[in-house]
Amino acid sequence: MPYSWRFVGRGRNPRIIGADKAMDIRRAFDNPVVFALSQRLVPFTVWVYEELARKHFAFSDGAGVLDIGCGIGRHRRFFGAQDYTGIDINPAYIARATRAYGPGFRVMDASRMDFADARFAGAVCIGTLHHLSDDLVRSMIKEALRVIQPGGALHVIDPVLPTDPKARFKRLVFENDRGRFQRTFPGMTRLVGEEGLVLKQDLHRGWLHDVAYLQVGRR
Ligand SMILES: C[S@@+](CC[C@H](N)C(=O)[O-])C[C@H]1O[C@@H](n2cnc3c(N)ncnc32)[C@H](O)[C@@H]1O
Repeated sequence: MPYSWRFVGRGRNPRIIGADKAMDIRRAFDNPVVFALSQRLVPFTVWVYEELARKHFAFSDGAGVLDIGCGIGRHRRFFGAQDYTGIDINPAYIARATRAYGPGFRVMDASRMDFADARFAGAVCIGTLHHLSDDLVRSMIKEALRVIQPGGALHVIDPVLPTDPKARFKRLVFENDRGRFQRTFPGMTRLVGEEGLVLKQDLHRGWLHDVAYLQVGRR
């Protein structure tokens, strides 16, 4: 099928290239080198993640922290000397994270975690929800709340669809993301709230994405 640099499809989900090519390009990001490069070349949304993390994360020294969907370990440095564990479903990402930051990374499906109950003081899940179907999000939240101690929190940071109808560029960028489960802020909050108690919410309007923060505890 010819490659075409034009909008294809109409309405809610236009694409800038043909769907088959878009899929090929998205798959390329499963390669850790391509993913690392994309985060370096277009860091704007990663900066927003970091700003929200600095504002809202509070883990006491030495506490066990779980990073769900840790990718290539980009956020490892936030946790300094803490007892950190990162999990991701992509073995190539975990191999790269381990090479870069050392042990503490494991290949694991976030919906079926291999940890004892209350193993961690808290958990974070950054930029990963829009890669998970509604059912997977429910299972991930259930699992995260099982493996963190009572009183601990799961901190979720994820892009959401812009509410401003004039923000067409941002909408287009997010709708062409390789994650296939784009949600609005209220939609994401409702879904997460089905399994956990939403304790705190925040929204940051970035240049490329609007990014939501949710702090989630046990009911
Ligand atoms: C956009 S990346 C975010 C990576 C990292 N948190 C960051 O901000 O750089 C989404 C990550 O979710 C991971 N992922 C997708 N489905 C998963 C699942 N079921 N269990 C664990 N990780 C998953 C992907 O492999 C990918 O690394």
